[in-house]
Amino acid sequence: MPLLNVGDPVLDLGCGCGVPATAILAELYAVTGVDLSPVQIARARRLVPAAEFRCADMSTVEFPSHCFAAVVAFFSIIHVPLEEQPAIFKSIYRWLRPGGYLLATVGSVAWTGTEDDWHGAPMYWSHADRATYLALLKETGFEVLWTRFIPEGTGGHTLVLARTPTLPSPASGEGDER
Ligand SMILES: C[S@@+](CC[C@H](N)C(=O)[O-])C[C@H]1O[C@@H](n2cnc3c(N)ncnc32)[C@H](O)[C@@H]1O
Repeated sequence: MPLLNVGDPVLDLGCGCGVPATAILAELYAVTGVDLSPVQIARARRLVPAAEFRCADMSTVEFPSHCFAAVVAFFSIIHVPLEEQPAIFKSIYRWLRPGGYLLATVGSVAWTGTEDDWHGAPMYWSHADRATYLALLKETGFEVLWTRFIPEGTGGHTLVLARTPTLPSPASGEGDER
């Protein structure tokens, strides 16, 4: 049974150049992509003309409450400093409609650090372990539906599908204006 309807509004946080995920989503949904990198946003606008894009930091970007049916964040939140991530999950919770979905890559094991040569450039990661993310999502008000281990090299990440309750929960900070 499909979780979304054709035309539903979907946010792709940390969309990169929009290929492949944003492009695939944009075939069925009204997608907004957000990325910190102006170069990636310029590529995404060219590669995925059907989607809307905003060059913005996911830690500070703002959207109206309950405006998305789903938020995806593939391999992106894990590049934001860990201490900023709880507020991002709160924002996502607020942007989602009741019964909305979050599909995100989070950590499998805890690690914060930098690699000097990640495909030719320095790269920063910051993530907690799987159990910490599941606790954080539940604390934020999400119901965790499933998780999958996504292998990468000698390690890997966790893909999690979570859902907001059908009725907004008072624990969510509903009404907060952040
Ligand atoms: C590894 S790429 C993943 C891109 C895409 N989601 C994918 O799976 O192909 C991580 C992306 O997150 C973006 N990013 C990192 N920190 C961000 C932030 N604070 N706000 C928005 N985007 C961010 C980067 O610019 C980069 O394009």
